Amino acid sequence: MSSRIRTLEEYHAAYQKSVEDPDGFWADVAAPFTWRRKWDTVRSGEFSPAGDSKWFEGARLNITENCLDRHLALRGNKLALIFEPNDPKTRHLRLTYRELYQQVCQFANVLHANGVEKGDRVIIYLPMIPALAIAVLACARIGAVHSVVFAGFSATAIADRVNDADAHFVLTADGLNRGPKQIPVKSVVDEALLHCPGVRRVIVVEHLGWHVHMQPGRDVWFHEEAQGVPLTCPAEEMKAEDPLFILYTSGSTGKPKGVVHTTAGYMVWADYTFRNVFQVEENDVYWCTADIGWVTGHTYLLYGPLLAGSTSLQFEGVPTYPDAGRFWEVIDKHNVTIFYTAPTAIRSLMATPLDNVLSYSLSSLRVLGSVGEPINEEAWHWYHTHIGKGRCPIVDTWWQTETGGIMLSALADITPSVPARAGLPLPGVQPVLLNQDGTEIEGNDREGYLAIKASWPAVIRTTWGDHERARQTYFQPYPGYYFTGDGARRDEQGLYRIIGRVDDVINVSGHRFGTAEIENAINQNEHVVESAVVGYPHDVKGQGIYAYVICQHGAPKTDAEARQWEASIIETVVAEIGKIAKPDKIQLVSGLPKTRSGKIMRRILRKVAEGETSNLGDVTTLLDPAVVDEILAGKK
Ligand code: WTA
Repeated sequence: MSSRIRTLEEYHAAYQKSVEDPDGFWADVAAPFTWRRKWDTVRSGEFSPAGDSKWFEGARLNITENCLDRHLALRGNKLALIFEPNDPKTRHLRLTYRELYQQVCQFANVLHANGVEKGDRVIIYLPMIPALAIAVLACARIGAVHSVVFAGFSATAIADRVNDADAHFVLTADGLNRGPKQIPVKSVVDEALLHCPGVRRVIVVEHLGWHVHMQPGRDVWFHEEAQGVPLTCPAEEMKAEDPLFILYTSGSTGKPKGVVHTTAGYMVWADYTFRNVFQVEENDVYWCTADIGWVTGHTYLLYGPLLAGSTSLQFEGVPTYPDAGRFWEVIDKHNVTIFYTAPTAIRSLMATPLDNVLSYSLSSLRVLGSVGEPINEEAWHWYHTHIGKGRCPIVDTWWQTETGGIMLSALADITPSVPARAGLPLPGVQPVLLNQDGTEIEGNDREGYLAIKASWPAVIRTTWGDHERARQTYFQPYPGYYFTGDGARRDEQGLYRIIGRVDDVINVSGHRFGTAEIENAINQNEHVVESAVVGYPHDVKGQGIYAYVICQHGAPKTDAEARQWEASIIETVVAEIGKIAKPDKIQLVSGLPKTRSGKIMRRILRKVAEGETSNLGDVTTLLDPAVVDEILAGKK
């Protein structure tokens, strides 16, 4: 398509046009898609402070016609999806665009037959198998709003999301494979649904062949429902601003919020950023290792690649099974040309013997990507040298669930790629650094709060059921800007370097958690009176979770008792959120450092967790300064 940038000059020209004439710029980018009706206005609504941006108003479309139908004539026999299973001894699966189209249509028909209507919310709790990709697209086909919940979240987390989205339908499977383990999935859903009276139908995909409990009148097997169901299904005509999906993500308050993306703007942004950042060519085999349960999987495993007519690889397993060479084995096996992963995966593989890499050629690789957290220089160099063999450009892509797609990044081999820098903004993105008082910081070699001036097509539209929350979180803190919650530095060359969150969000292995969210979970434990959670630097995870906990009966009497309480607290967090939010360190304390007004001084807790105990700053305003000594003495 014409909006592909191929040189540095073209990048600068595109960038300038996107700022000076955004309507003209995005009208050109959007022109080649399949529209049932073209838009009346490119951009409307108020970006900030109302936070009600609209893009391509008046247009009618279905995103799956753009992902699938549009490609059938030219790419019907091209591979759309390669599925690599958890166990390398199990056969992989390949679906052409025509086959994927048929399976999506069939799944969509099954949804319809089970009562799913346009606008209904469907919670998808499925493992990383083709049915997950197909189910997401099937929802979009009939205009249902998908909300994928990562299949590692707990029953409580599922129930919260089902109820918040007021979903009447859940899609799930019998169980899932994760490395050497098989994990039940349906039983987790069953437990969740004890608290979700609104759910009318659960459609279960058979994956492990397990016998699972099926509740009569509520639960049905997909393969039984699909018998004899046609392989075509008309696509529902959607308005540009109809919601496409809800994805729950953590913020600085206790409750995860449902980030809402709509149809046309998200589609245009996913496609444009995918093609330009990775510089995708027709014959690329592209692999994004993220789970579809996270936004990276939505935009860059599923929608972006399919919109662009690319071949996307979906991997069920983990990087270390059956051994730490698995990623590299998969790359050689399928001749992957573009590889997109997270720094935490790179750091964990870096720590294993280099032989795991050297047994593979990796000669098919052309472009490498990184996402989810800052990539440290050491990991960048290892990735560049040992995986990219010094030959492949690395794109360090900064973005968020709320931005829908990549905002700051090098375009592979076109704009500068410097270790530990996300780089320059994509066309359409106007980043600024703000002072605490909201004034813009001019010039290079400066640091501040990262915010975005002016709307872009995939900006978050709302938080499900609570627009005021979206407004207050993103658009109100600094009127005129979208506030990212990240701190950044603009270097001497004007390249952006992300420093990390400036709010109470911690980024563990590229996954976001609110400290309040983890505290709420810990506080559910019977032993616990109060807790405070902070992040600390962790070699593999980026940030680890450090929890300070006050227990009911004071200090534990024995070490064994302490260990028992800690194990019980971990169990509670796993039940409330999931294994991914397990604290790395728990310190049982008798008090927390609080100001006279009762506010916890997290600054001190953070410093202790980071091991920076020599300079704790001013502690005289504390209600009880002695608490700090006790905390220091018991540091984990
Ligand atoms: C962080 C994931 C540094 C950042 C796509 C952001 C990054 C949060 C990068 C969003 C990067 C993401 N360099 N930090 N390349 N990419 N982040 O919503 O703090 O899961 O605010 O979206 O991850 O996480 P989310």
